[in-house]
Amino acid sequence: MSLVEQALKKLQETRRAVAGEPRRDAPLGVIREVSAPAAAAIDGAPATPRRIVQLDRNALVQAGFLPPDHKQRQIADQFRHVKRPLLAAALGRGVEPLPNGRMIMLASSLPGEGKTFVSVNLALSMSLERDISVLLVDADVAKPHISRLFGIAGEPGLLEALQDERIDVESLVLPTDIPKFSVLPAGQPIDTATELLASRRMQAVIARLAASQDRARVAIFDSPPLLLTSESRVLAQPMGQVVLVVQAGKTPQRAVHDAIACLGEGKPVSLLLNQSEAVTEAGYYYRDGSYGEYARYGGRQA
Ligand SMILES: Nc1ncnc2c1ncn2[C@@H]1O[C@H](COP(=O)(O)OP(=O)(O)O)[C@@H](O)[C@H]1O
Ligand SMILES: [Mg+2]
Repeated sequence: MSLVEQALKKLQETRRAVAGEPRRDAPLGVIREVSAPAAAAIDGAPATPRRIVQLDRNALVQAGFLPPDHKQRQIADQFRHVKRPLLAAALGRGVEPLPNGRMIMLASSLPGEGKTFVSVNLALSMSLERDISVLLVDADVAKPHISRLFGIAGEPGLLEALQDERIDVESLVLPTDIPKFSVLPAGQPIDTATELLASRRMQAVIARLAASQDRARVAIFDSPPLLLTSESRVLAQPMGQVVLVVQAGKTPQRAVHDAIACLGEGKPVSLLLNQSEAVTEAGYYYRDGSYGEYARYGGRQA
């Protein structure tokens, strides 16, 4: 079976799995207008009325994106070895910061390997760290899974900022009611999304996000599969770090090599083995500790 055939089969399996689990695909969030004082209490920004994404914590726990209370310590340990080197290299804590290291892309060779699942998990987990804020960017503009998940699919986002130079991308970032955790929706789907992601303007938009006044903000970019789309390769260019999600026992070795080759030489890449195959129900990930192995190479070791 060719890589593309395998990918299509995987995609169909994933669709079937999702169809059988309607709860996981139901939005976990909703947009709310909040008053000036309430808004200031959430993100510390000047007190003006604001629209925020109100997330359903119970639904996040049930969908496996947040640990249940009794698992918090175990999960914190589990994530530590994944996020620590990323954050160290991003913020220069204990090591030299990587250029653009606060821009972190979650990539994989093929669909269904867990990019979206891991990016939401990792972003939420990082936002729980002291002194760190996280922006989760839905850069999978063709399949804006995060935007659907958070109930912000109709909101202007990355695509609008790419289309119109007068739009400041930061103005489209939506705070959430989880402290220090914000999201940038993918935006309204359009036919030219791929060209837009590959455009010069994209570099400017990322540079703007990297220049955030909040120097302790990391941005996690969910992305399309590297081997099936060209926009993902372009997206990788301005990224300071790439986490390549590999599905344990599933992703063909050649696909991993090809994906790494797509990223170009010298790009700091971390491999994250995701054993989503072993997962039979939402949340199992936490019980099983199924993040598995983690390896870093490329660029400088953090
Ligand atoms: N570690 C995991 N634990 C539980 N479910 C997972 C895990 N990784 C992936 N999944 C599930 O597998 C499916 C495919 O993952 P997804 O993140 O959508 O893949 P991608 O974004 O790479 O296409 C989703 O239903 C997701 O919730
Ligand atoms: Mg995805």
